[in-house]
Formats: sequence, C-alpha cells, structure tokens
Amino acid sequence: MSHPIGLCMAALIAVQASWAQETLRAAADRRGVHIGAAAGSAFWSNEPAYKETLRREFNTLVAENAMKFAQLQPTRGNFRWTEADALVEFAQQNGMKVRGHTLVWGQSGGFAEAGNFGREELLEIMRTHIQTVMGRYRGKIFEWDVVNETIADGRGTNVYRDNYWIRGIGPEYVDSAFRIAHRVDPTAVLYYNDYRAEGSVPKADKIYALVKGLRERGVPIHGVGMQGHMSTPGTIRELPEIGQVDANIKRFAALGLKVAITEFDFRVRTPASEQDLAVQKAGYKAMLGVCLANPNCRTFVTWGFTDKYSFIPGFDPGWGAALPFDEQYRPKASYYGMLEVLTPTSLLRPRALRSGLRQVETGPWRLYTPTGVSVAAGENRTVVFPTRSRGVFFLKGDGEGRAAR
Ligand code: G3I
Repeated sequence: MSHPIGLCMAALIAVQASWAQETLRAAADRRGVHIGAAAGSAFWSNEPAYKETLRREFNTLVAENAMKFAQLQPTRGNFRWTEADALVEFAQQNGMKVRGHTLVWGQSGGFAEAGNFGREELLEIMRTHIQTVMGRYRGKIFEWDVVNETIADGRGTNVYRDNYWIRGIGPEYVDSAFRIAHRVDPTAVLYYNDYRAEGSVPKADKIYALVKGLRERGVPIHGVGMQGHMSTPGTIRELPEIGQVDANIKRFAALGLKVAITEFDFRVRTPASEQDLAVQKAGYKAMLGVCLANPNCRTFVTWGFTDKYSFIPGFDPGWGAALPFDEQYRPKASYYGMLEVLTPTSLLRPRALRSGLRQVETGPWRLYTPTGVSVAAGENRTVVFPTRSRGVFFLKGDGEGRAAR
C-alpha cells in the first residue's frame, strides 16, 4: 500500500507541472483582452530572456521607439524598416497582435521638424509617411496611435502644444492624419494618444473636446489612448481617483470610442521599498481593473516589462522599478496584481494537514498562487501545498481575492 505522504508528494509534483503554465497572456486570452508590452532596444540584443518573457506573458506588442517618424524615415523618402519589420515578424510568429506607435507626433520628427516646410509640403510629408508606413503593415497592425500628444498640459485657453505640425499646418492636421490613415487601412483601429489626462483634469476635458469635435466632423477616430505613466501619491503622476478614470472612460464610450491604456508604468523611488511596491501593485490593479470593468476598454499595455530596461531612470533619475518584472525577469507584486485582476477571484481556505501540508479540492474554477503556480479549471482534484508556501490563494469566481491562512 502506498504511503499517504508519498501520495501527497506525487500530487504536489504533478500539480507543480501545470502551475508553471499560468501567465498574463493565458489569463488575458481567456478574457479576450489585449495585454501588451512595449519592446525597446533590448529586443534587438542577444538576450533570450527578453523575448522569451515577451512571448510567454503578452499577446500584444508595441514598439517603444522603432515605429516613430525619425526612426522609420530618417531622411526624406528613405525608409528604414529593419527593426519594425523584425518586431512585426516576431509578433506574427508568436501569435501576438501589434499596436502601432506612433504616426504623427511633435517629437521624433527628424527632417520634418528641421526642414521649416510650408503648409502644403508638410501635409504632403505627413500623407506620404502615413501611407507608406500603414500601407506596409496593412492587416498586420490592428491599431495605431495616429496622433500623439498634441494637447497642452494644464488649464487655460492654450489648447494645443506647440509643435511643427501645428505651426506648419494648423490644428486641422489632426483631422487630416486620421482621414489619411483610415483610407490606407480601413480595418485599423485609430487612436488619439496622450499622457496625464486619465482623471478629471483640465487636459482631459481638452482631449474630450478635441475627439468630440473629430466625431462630429465625421473624422474616422475610433479610440483614445490613456498612456498611464503613474507614480506614488504626492507626485505629479500620482494615480488619479479611480472613479474619475472610470467616468472618463465612460464619456468616451458615450461618444462611441474605445479606450486603451497604452503605456502603463508606475515609477517609485529607487531602490524600491516593499511599501512602495505594494502601492505600485495597487496602482496596477486599479488601472487594469477600471479598464476591464468597461466594455470599451480591452487593451492594456505596459511601457516595457522588465525594470532592467525602462526609459524612466534615464529620464527621471532616482525613480524607476516601474514595471511588472524585476531586473532578473522575476515577476513582482504588480505582476500578480495584474493576474488577480485578469482572473476574478474569491476566497479559498485550504485545509491544514497534520503532515505540515495544506490541501484543497479544486473544481470548476482556476487556482493560482503568488508564487506563479496554477491549476486549470475543471481538473477536480486534490491539491497539496507545502506549508512553507505562504501566500494568497485564489479561486476563480465572482468575488474579490482575499488572503487565506
Ligand atoms: O538610439 C539612440 C542611441 O543610438 C544613442 O546612443 C542614445 C543617446 O542618448 O539615444 C538613443 O535614442 C534614444 C531612444 O529613446 C532610444 O533609447 C533617444 O535619445 C531618446 O530620446 C528616446 O527616448 C524615448 C522617448 O519616448 C522619445 O522618443 C524613450 O525611449 C521612450 O520610452 C519614450 O516613449 C514615450 C512615448 O513614445 C510617448 N509617450 C511618452 C513616452 C515616455 O516619454
């Protein structure tokens, strides 16, 4: 007769094999949502963990820089596709979708910015760029940030940021960009994308007025990107009150627009404290949660994914550690926060076994732990945990996840 402890250990080993499969990507696929990450310059370096993590954890990919104007068209009429092509090919090989970022922006303008062109010529430059880029990736890039960051920060009558498109063409460049884009790829979902306008701030109202005007003029815009570069309380990037974000997403829905969280990260002071990482986790949960609670918000993208590569420490010295994986590609609390949101949960109380193990019966729900292990729904079996694996256990259900001891 088999020894009971031996049986328990066999079950444990069997379960560990399937636990290892739980990922953001699998959870997002089950929900039918896009969980994405921006790929930066490390994508083209020889670091296998980078691409392995991308393809394992995300079903959507964005180029952090490789599809910007000056990167794609460094001099007039000379397009450089190598990096962007490699990204699109990688996505296709791995069954991932690609968001395009970004066609028309007041930064990264290269020759278009430097040239001091007249109105008609600048319009022609914009048209050629959009037609060439979107044409090349027609059917391969499902949504595009057509216009990025054209609205000025803060309150007041100063609606538009100063940039060479506004100076050279006027605010109607926005209308033209969307009309051209839609003609090139009528199936692509076209976004206006901007930062620090997620909550109830004057800039959010200006963006609302812009896109409402576009809709009223029949301009083919389909969504608004909320970048979501966040930080701890008391900073200019502090997480807005989440009800405000919810109201904002809903008023775009009322205009018939989608919303995507396009560049999420949550910077903390470095080196990161446990407390800040817990606040960060709450921030990830709140933003992903409010997005998925609204049917018009089905895309959530993080701006990078490993703290090893993020623009933040270079841009904002003393700050960083903003992403769901640490510098060794280990999932952080924020990663488990995302997993919790993607998987509706309810309380599970495992039974303590005398042998120093805990046991639970699984059923038509999915089980996972913060150590990254899971059991598929419907396996209906006994799962045994070693007592040393303290943590939170969740069951798929309708309630909120809670700690079980
Ligand atoms: O590639 C060159 C490299 O050859 C050179 O040695 C190095 C020296 O500084 O610069 C490298 O280019 C930098 C590039 O990032 C790649 O690292 C640029 O100087 C730098 O300006 C660029 O910054 C990017 C920034 O957009 C401006 O395009 C950041 O990586 C990128 O994260 C950031 O992303 C933006 C979104 O597009 C729009 N929303 C805000 C977001 C954060 O600022």
